Order: sequence, then structure tokens, then C-alpha cells
Amino acid sequence: MADTATDKAEQAEDKRLVQTNPDYDPSVIVETQNLSKVYRDFWGRQKVRALKALDLEVRKGEIFGLLGPNGSGKSTTIKLLLGLLFPTSGRALVFGQDASETTKNERIGYLPEESYLYKFLTAEETLDFYGRLFDMPAKLRKERSDMLIEQVGLTRSKRRQLKEYSKGMTRRIGLAQALINDPDLILLDEPTSGLDPMGTREMKDMILDLKAQKKTVIMCSHLLADVQDVCDRIAILHQGDLKELGAVNDLLQVSDETSIRAKGLPQSAQQEIEEVIRKHGGEVLTVENPRTTLEELFLNIVRESEQRPGRRAISEQDAENGEN
Ligand SMILES: Nc1ncnc2c1ncn2[C@@H]1O[C@H](COP(=O)(O)OP(=O)(O)O)[C@@H](O)[C@H]1O
Ligand SMILES: [Mg+2]
Repeated sequence: MADTATDKAEQAEDKRLVQTNPDYDPSVIVETQNLSKVYRDFWGRQKVRALKALDLEVRKGEIFGLLGPNGSGKSTTIKLLLGLLFPTSGRALVFGQDASETTKNERIGYLPEESYLYKFLTAEETLDFYGRLFDMPAKLRKERSDMLIEQVGLTRSKRRQLKEYSKGMTRRIGLAQALINDPDLILLDEPTSGLDPMGTREMKDMILDLKAQKKTVIMCSHLLADVQDVCDRIAILHQGDLKELGAVNDLLQVSDETSIRAKGLPQSAQQEIEEVIRKHGGEVLTVENPRTTLEELFLNIVRESEQRPGRRAISEQDAENGEN
């Protein structure tokens, strides 16, 4: 569905960025180097070390998940990427530009943790308002807004004021607002917060839709299943430290265990394993490494972190990738 006009505009923008910065690699959308944030109190005293030396790379077309308990530094990371906060040390690059460069935000969509939308506007008026902020012409605003309202399933409620919206509807209009400028990078802060299982599933499907449109998504969540279902790669944060980084599939693989799934095997032969399956004329369907759940992995990491605070060695595979 991504029309060629937007593709062309994107290519032109990438070309311009390469010209201004020869090191710019268009396949790396976000890069953080040693990114750290200390919140200080009114007198400038250190209050909270919210993020400690984060090194990350998010590539084009990925759905990247930031996972961690409350207060682990997820929202801080997102705000640093948007340039809403300045790092205490290190830096964040988005589209190869420093995150403090606000012009890059024209290519970013942002769904904040708390809704900040005007309660007395309708869905249509809300999207029109944000379209104006991006200087979109009236015709385009109308087209994008109709399309997005349809996409997030609010067609029937589009003329109602947001103050009448349920939590789920508010989250949907928030997502539509984040997409009004047809962004290349979408930052979603707890996109499923407060949604029921149905609403959660629909939100996840909408996020997968964005991937199908070749968008890059960074979402943060403390909800494990959400991240497991939609993300390609995840970073697990705890008290501002990066604890784990890798592809969801690799992280959940238990390599020292093997499961055998068999079909057509007589009940009596079940204990005699693979050899016996063949001997009995059964069919070995799959022989693979079973997976743990993200929940187990996450709880182990948090428990371990409580005993040994600080940075944890990241999985071998990602460390190798990082070196290349
Ligand atoms: N504006 C702020 N001033 C002081 N401390 C803050 C501020 N915002 C966040 N923090 C603290 O920084 C830490 C990380 O917060 P945050 O990034 O919001 O975590 P998360 O989104 O993972 O729940 C927490 O300890 C939080 O209390
Ligand atoms: Mg948060």
C-alpha cells in the first residue's frame, strides 16, 4: 500500500542525509552510543540514574521492543530519541542525525504513555489538527484522516468527542494521531496499556500492519506477551541497565533440550523414543529445540539482576553481530 510517492520522498531524504553525512547508513534507523540519563533535582543534585550507557542499533523495518519493569528507563529512552530530553552523556542518532535535531521528528510518529489529546475534539478534528501541525494540505489531511480512522476501527465514533471515548478507543485515536504524517519510524510507549485482551490483540495486529508497510517500530512495554507476539528483537532493561538483547526467537530457545513430536505412534511404544518411533512405523514430525516463555526468561533476568546489579553479558549471538 505504501505508495511510490512516499517511497521516492524517503529515498530523496536518505540521499540528502548521505550527502551531508558520509557515514550515514540508511538501514540503521536508530543508534544509541553509551546513552545515559541522570535526572537531577531542583538543586542539581543527582536524583535517579534512569539510563546507564545504553548501546543499541535498530534497523529499518524492524519491530524492536524495549521491555522492562516500571521505572527501568523505557520511557526515558524514547524521550531521548525524540529529543524531548537531553542525554547526560553518550548520544542518540535517529536517521543518522543527532536526536536533538528536531527536523527529524517530521519522519517520526509518537504514541506517548499518557494521552494528551484534546478532550473536546472529535476523532476527525483531532487528526485534522495534527495534520495542520505538519503543514499538510487540506485534501491530504482529509484523505489521511479518513484512512487512519478506518484503519484503527473508529469510523462509527469519528464524530464523537474524545471525552466520551473508552480507554481502548483513546489508544486507537492516539495511534492514528501518531501516524498522521505517514512516519518512517514509530515510537509506541506502552501501546496496549489499559486495553482488554481483544483491544490488545487488535493493537498488536495494527503494529504488525505497520511492519507490513515496511515501517520501523520501537515499542516499549512491561507486558511480556505483547512483546513476544510482535517484536523481532528486544532489549530487556532493568534499573537503567541493558540486561539482554537479541532476537526473540534466539532468546527463547532452550538449546540443551530436545522435544520430539510424533504422530501415528501406538500408545505402548511412547517411552521408546525416536528409534522406537521409526521401529513402530510412526512418523517423526519435528525434532527441534523447545522454547521457554519470555515470561520465564524475563523473571530470571530480574531475579539475577537483584542479586548482581549492573550490566549483564548479552547473548553471544548479538555480541557477535554487534562486532561486525
Ligand atoms: N522527570 C523525571 N524526574 C526525575 N526522575 C524521573 C523523571 N522521569 C522518570 N524518572 C525516574 O527515572 C526512572 C526511569 O523512568 P522511566 O523511563 O519513566 O521508566 P519506565 O518507562 O521504564 O517505567 C524511574 O526511576 C523514574 O522514577
Ligand atoms: Mg514508561
